[in-house]
Amino acid sequence: MKLRVGFVGAGAMAEALIRGLIKSGAAPRQIIASDVQAARLKYIKSQYGIKTSANNRSIYENSDVVVLAVKPQNLEEVLVELADITQVLTESVKGLPLIVSIAAGISIKFVEEALPVPYPVIRAMPNTPAVVGQGATAISPGSSTRREHETQCRSIFEAVGIVVNVPEAQMDAVTGLSGSGPAYGYVIIEALADAGVRVGLPRAVALGLAAQTLAGAAKMVLETGQHPGVLKDQVTSPGGTTIAGLQVMERGGIRGILMDTVAAAADRSKELKR
Ligand SMILES: NC(=O)c1ccc[n+]([C@@H]2O[C@H](COP(=O)([O-])OP(=O)(O)OC[C@H]3O[C@@H](n4cnc5c(N)ncnc54)[C@H](OP(=O)(O)O)[C@@H]3O)[C@@H](O)[C@H]2O)c1
Repeated sequence: MKLRVGFVGAGAMAEALIRGLIKSGAAPRQIIASDVQAARLKYIKSQYGIKTSANNRSIYENSDVVVLAVKPQNLEEVLVELADITQVLTESVKGLPLIVSIAAGISIKFVEEALPVPYPVIRAMPNTPAVVGQGATAISPGSSTRREHETQCRSIFEAVGIVVNVPEAQMDAVTGLSGSGPAYGYVIIEALADAGVRVGLPRAVALGLAAQTLAGAAKMVLETGQHPGVLKDQVTSPGGTTIAGLQVMERGGIRGILMDTVAAAADRSKELKR
């Protein structure tokens, strides 16, 4: 990766992406981050050896791609700063950077309208397993984005997991599924671990088996490309243990519950967005 990637806001999600980029071969000198917290920058610099600055302006001036990684409530102040130096950036040799916003619930239109000229803008919705390189990120291109920008953006999020393209209208659905999804996974793992204890396993053994079993099943779906129904049928022998368990899941309405769960989160995302 030859791109120079900048982060405005060096919090949890920026750190996950910085770690992923370095792990996947980016040189620390290609990455620069700013933050309002001096202690945070000191930590990030010592941990990853990247360049840091207390000044957001130097991120815009020294990056090909800038990830806006502040909380949604801080995005507006960051965009005002970016708008202020747009003239300088426009006249510079490298031109305008690609702006990637990961702020949950903030539309591309909001970002584009806050800027005085048409910047290439991409909205991305990552999720927390990016911290361990197992993220799921959806991206939507803005109105002045070219294919090369999408490729650049993908290369950043592919360093921490999988990336899908969606029209922006589907971002609430993404939020309900993969954005909030890790929490659903944790609840299911915790319940399976309780179940293991219920049938006589020590807690730590039950938790390890539950988490690895779900991780393994997920990997089977992603790596074999087989439909989950086919994989389920392959492990369900006539009159066996698995079908006895599945009958209880179906009687409890597990599929309907999960569909309602995602729909409720997607509806809430619609209510909250700007
Ligand atoms: N974490 C996730 O799972 C996740 C998933 C999807 C999307 N996102 C999005 O990712 C973004 C960042 O989330 P996060 O969890 O990484 O947040 P975070 O840990 O709070 O990191 C944001 C950092 O930016 C700093 N900051 C605030 N205002 C700033 C400014 N004007 N200039 C430079 N730095 C500034 C914050 O300092 P202070 O603490 O002093 O404000 C903080 O250190 C959010 O918009 C969120 O919606 C996060």
